[in-house]
Amino acid sequence: MTARELRALDTADLEARVKAMYEQVALTPEHEFHFETGRGLAEHLGYPPADLDRIPAAALDSFAGVGYFLDLAAIAPGETVLDLGSGSGTDSFLAAVATGPGGHVVGVDMTAAQLAKATRLAGDLGWTEFREGYIERPPVEDGTVDCVISNGVVNLSADKPAVFRAAAAALRPGGRLALADIVTDQQLPQGITCDASLWAACIGGAAQREDYLAAIVAAGFTVETVRDNDYRFVSASALGATTTYGVRSISLLARR
Ligand SMILES: C[S@@+](CC[C@H](N)C(=O)[O-])C[C@H]1O[C@@H](n2cnc3c(N)ncnc32)[C@H](O)[C@@H]1O
Repeated sequence: MTARELRALDTADLEARVKAMYEQVALTPEHEFHFETGRGLAEHLGYPPADLDRIPAAALDSFAGVGYFLDLAAIAPGETVLDLGSGSGTDSFLAAVATGPGGHVVGVDMTAAQLAKATRLAGDLGWTEFREGYIERPPVEDGTVDCVISNGVVNLSADKPAVFRAAAAALRPGGRLALADIVTDQQLPQGITCDASLWAACIGGAAQREDYLAAIVAAGFTVETVRDNDYRFVSASALGATTTYGVRSISLLARR
């Protein structure tokens, strides 16, 4: 995104809109959004139902991810995991099941209601903690994380290169970045990138696929796997933009 485009987009207003939308996802997940939410969405994306049975159902009610990627992450017992934009905690809790109590999972999110919900639900998975912060500068010590995960979040950042640089800094050498996110075939026009509602819905901020991958490589990663996901937006305005500009979901694995 150019400096001119960033000025055209009021980033403070955008942050407020994103927070408002995901506060609603935390508090009233049954509400209709531009996108699907919940266990049905997770199963459709390929999350194994037996894994979903092992995490709090209320976390899953507010799941708003865009793809399955935990097979790529291959999280092992004892590992330290950082979840960027952890929301109500679905992927953090699944990561915690994989690390076991000898590991540590830190979820970072900027929306208070999401953090409160995830923290309240952590219960038996006490080695999971949720910290308030921004994915562009997550509150973790450099070089301490084995695997950074994220689901449907980096597209919401106006500074994607900063997010990937922060992920690289958090990781130990050889650490992994595994995520699912929204990208586009074509550059989105300003009419869409400046629509705060479409941005908060994970469309307006989506980068062109090649630019997105290039930003990961520029941060010092080698991209090992990229695959397409069967993800669909639901509102008419979201569907219009996705068809015209090839807005779609990918999962990927990259190594530092
Ligand atoms: C689409 S939801 C996905 C939540 C979760 N990963 C999931 O799969 O259910 C996006 C989340 O990212 C958070 N978020 C968006 N931009 C952020 C930023 N710059 N820093 C921290 N959190 C952010 C929102 O508050 C929201 O909880």
